[in-house]
Amino acid sequence: MGRTHRDSYGGEMSTSSSLIFYCLVFLAEILMFGLLSLVLFWVVYYRGGFAWREDVTKEFNYHPVLMICGFVFFMGHAMLVYRLFRCCNKLTAKILHTFLYLMAVPCIVVATITVFDSHNLRSPPIPNLYSLHSWLGVITIGLFALQVTHTLVVGFFSFWLLLCCEQGTVRFRSGLVPVHATFGIITFMLAIATAVTGYTEKAFFSLSADYSMMVDEAWVINAQAASLAGLAILMGFLLYSSRYARSSHPVAIIDPPSSSHYVMTQKTYYYREHE
Ligand code: HEM
Repeated sequence: MGRTHRDSYGGEMSTSSSLIFYCLVFLAEILMFGLLSLVLFWVVYYRGGFAWREDVTKEFNYHPVLMICGFVFFMGHAMLVYRLFRCCNKLTAKILHTFLYLMAVPCIVVATITVFDSHNLRSPPIPNLYSLHSWLGVITIGLFALQVTHTLVVGFFSFWLLLCCEQGTVRFRSGLVPVHATFGIITFMLAIATAVTGYTEKAFFSLSADYSMMVDEAWVINAQAASLAGLAILMGFLLYSSRYARSSHPVAIIDPPSSSHYVMTQKTYYYREHE
């Protein structure tokens, strides 16, 4: 018996699924807004706030705030858009998704500049890219840059090709959706791992022995890392569960790997037996 995709994958959710879905989204929102507020509170209250190149210690403070803002807040919301905006048409969701993704770009660029400044402009300068955190950071930023570049390039060419042969590009663009979605989730999870190592490093650098005494600041730092762990679990569940995908009108049928075939939907694709 073939599975009907409306029953098993995406599409309308039952009342209980909707309830669970919106509870999880609510929790994810609390964690994202909570984390952003907490990181701001931490750098302003405990780390002296912000400054530009005249005070590189304070310039560093932009780094955690903007990395969290770009990689967790904006990217997290960009990924949730397709799950949340189930009622409106796909173009609206696409525009919002792209807008949120693009908002992450300046945050990540400035966060990277400020951390390099905080190493290079210090006297004596601190060596760059020696730590585990910085290596993870480079991989995460690299994946994000690839994702943005590929989206812009594909978007640009699709736009022009679309003017002459829409059908020709549908298959190509649809084939890229799962790749784009998967890389998005991988980048988000890597960013979380990177941020957690960043917090650990900063806690050891700045608090030294006080860290093990669990001074107030240690609680604030650990709470941020715990929120990140919570977000990794929640977002992983929300984004991977095909139960929560948008309504699943097939948009493309891609080549069968064998005698069976896959039908790709707007956000997920799934196995369907012989028809
Ligand atoms: C999630 C996104 C993040 C990315 C992609 C990232 C990336 C990086 C990179 C590439 C460096 C190396 C700079 C250099 O060598 O000059 C660095 C340094 C640093 N980052 Fe992050 N970071 C992130 C989040 C955080 C967070 C949340 C903190 C928390 C405070 C943090 C703390 C640090 C510290 C203390 C350094 C200097 C020491 C070192 O080079 O490891 N980072 N980060």
